[in-house]
Amino acid sequence: MSGVRVRVAAKINLSLRVGARRPDGFHDLSTVFQAISLFDDIQVRASPIGSGRTISVAGERVDGVPRDDRNLAARAAIALAEAVGQPDPDVHIDIDKAIPVAGGMAGGSADAAATLMACRALWDTEIADEELHRVAADLGSDVPFALQGGTAQGTGRGDILVPVLATGEWHWVVALNDGELSTPQVFAECDRLRSCGLSEPAPGDDSALMAALRAGSARDLAPCLVNDLQPAALSLRPSLAAVLAAGTDVGALAGLVSGSGPTCIFLAADREHAIGLAAELAGSGLVRGVRHAFGPVRGAHLIP
Ligand code: C5P
Repeated sequence: MSGVRVRVAAKINLSLRVGARRPDGFHDLSTVFQAISLFDDIQVRASPIGSGRTISVAGERVDGVPRDDRNLAARAAIALAEAVGQPDPDVHIDIDKAIPVAGGMAGGSADAAATLMACRALWDTEIADEELHRVAADLGSDVPFALQGGTAQGTGRGDILVPVLATGEWHWVVALNDGELSTPQVFAECDRLRSCGLSEPAPGDDSALMAALRAGSARDLAPCLVNDLQPAALSLRPSLAAVLAAGTDVGALAGLVSGSGPTCIFLAADREHAIGLAAELAGSGLVRGVRHAFGPVRGAHLIP
């Protein structure tokens, strides 16, 4: 049987406000996500009965990505099969990655969302959107947003989503950095810094950020970008401070760590500004690579 292909975008957090650690180990969040034009492409096809899940992964620095059921994409296929009452699924999943691995851009969650969508089409199964959302949220806090895309506010673990109006196109420069940061470790470091009085939640709320998004003003948005995980990411990876400084030195409107890092993102005024910033940052010698990306883009979707 031929396969089903799905494209899925990276996410950035324009605002990431981290509340208290809950009894289940997760933190209450208030975040504003935007899906941006860095994509993973997933192809899922049926494999012979009894072969289980097999995975191939292409892209930069993908050696550490598991090729077995530890991969969130494989777990997504299993979870969807369970939810729709199908037997243990036999599928091959091809993952072509442009979203940095363990980079704070929800690449694993994106692959899980794409696999849910691909398997739903491959198996021609009926599943209500709310049920698919529940399966997605069980897989990971960022998986529902990877399905939905656009710009959205997330609360709860980040999985309760409400669309946000963002007028026009927003241009970002994404600075890829060497190595990975573990999301649980960054959250744990955030708790540690707070318990020592070395960090505290960002004050205020996101009303000015929402107004800037509605107005389509990058200059108004710049001072509103906030990431409560940034002090923790910088504590674990002090060299990121130089990357953030380099971005603002060459004229980015603002820069911040993306999610739990170590990827950093910089806001540009428009496309030309972003292309110029990307060239300057690439020449700084401080980053592994740069990408120009725009948002918002759509959530996981079938491609021919
Ligand atoms: O939901 P997900 O599996 O992607 O989360 C990865 C890890 O990030 C969790 O195990 C937890 O340590 C941390 N996390 C958190 N609070 C959230 C989301 C994630 O503490 N709201």
